[in-house]
Amino acid sequence: MSSPDLHADLCGIRFGNPLVNGSGTLDALAAGTLGLGAFVTKTVTLHPREGNPPVRIAETPAGMVNSIGLANPGLDAFCADHLPRLGELGVPVIASVGGWSPSEYATAVARIGAHPAVAAVELNVSCPNVESGCIAIGTDAGETRALVERCRSETDLPVLAKLSPSVSDVAAIATAAAEGGAHGLVLINTVRGIAIDRDRLRPLLGGGGGGLSGPAIKPIALHAIFHARAATGLPIIGMGGVASAQDCVEFLAAGASLVGIGTSLFADPGLPQRMLPELGRLVRQHGAETIEDLVGVAHPRLSSSTRA
Ligand SMILES: Cc1cc2nc3c(=O)[nH]c(=O)nc-3n(C[C@H](O)[C@H](O)[C@H](O)COP(=O)(O)O)c2cc1C
Repeated sequence: MSSPDLHADLCGIRFGNPLVNGSGTLDALAAGTLGLGAFVTKTVTLHPREGNPPVRIAETPAGMVNSIGLANPGLDAFCADHLPRLGELGVPVIASVGGWSPSEYATAVARIGAHPAVAAVELNVSCPNVESGCIAIGTDAGETRALVERCRSETDLPVLAKLSPSVSDVAAIATAAAEGGAHGLVLINTVRGIAIDRDRLRPLLGGGGGGLSGPAIKPIALHAIFHARAATGLPIIGMGGVASAQDCVEFLAAGASLVGIGTSLFADPGLPQRMLPELGRLVRQHGAETIEDLVGVAHPRLSSSTRA
């Protein structure tokens, strides 16, 4: 029996397999692509940022809370030093962009989108670790729509909106992104969280609050993907707690076309390589020939009583 086809497609881009890293969770220039089908950059902002003061990461029973605060070298250094080398990775590169105003995003999208190494642009409107911008935009439907519209006009590349689960109606924000012209969605960023220092009984993280990631957030991610897909029909990069090939299949069924791994990569960089053969076996077990055959298969069973 031939092996199933693990190629994946998103917005007209062909990927060798459906696994990608979550933005900010892999330095591909240091570690390589670990067998992933694409590389997503750490979010880059117009100006360099040192990020939040330490402590920046706290372990939790089923994941971690981080308060990195968008530490990055800024647009100029990113375009001059990072992008040319990322073009040599041999997989499509998705560049993540953040900012504090639509014009900051637009400037970054125009510069990055013009670089031949980049296949698509991801708008991070969901980082919980900064005081304004980003999630302040992505928790407002009108601002999300306007931002996507503005960025669409700056590039011919596919524009993806990365959304937060920390909203009351993720489908409404997804719909706003679609109305703004997003070619696809990325769900989910971290869930707002906080860690308390057990001795001092004060917030542990230097930024105060942070974002929860890892297996603890998987059901939240599946919910967001499921309803964003149902509301928009847009292609989705799904992530949030993925730690196995079985998780990956469930994300595909909920409506993801590509599946991201973040927190699990920190503990186990060999995970994607090991997941791929198991993914092939599971695709076959579900009677499918290709990854695409499984995308959204959970949806025909959607009834009004399953909506939450
Ligand atoms: C340490 C760390 C840094 C992150 N940095 C970014 C970032 O720069 N931009 C972004 O859009 N998401 C960032 N994320 C969110 C991840 O890309 C991903 O959406 C989230 O962690 C959920 O996936 P996971 O549970 O597999 O980690 C970061 C997550 C972690 C844990």
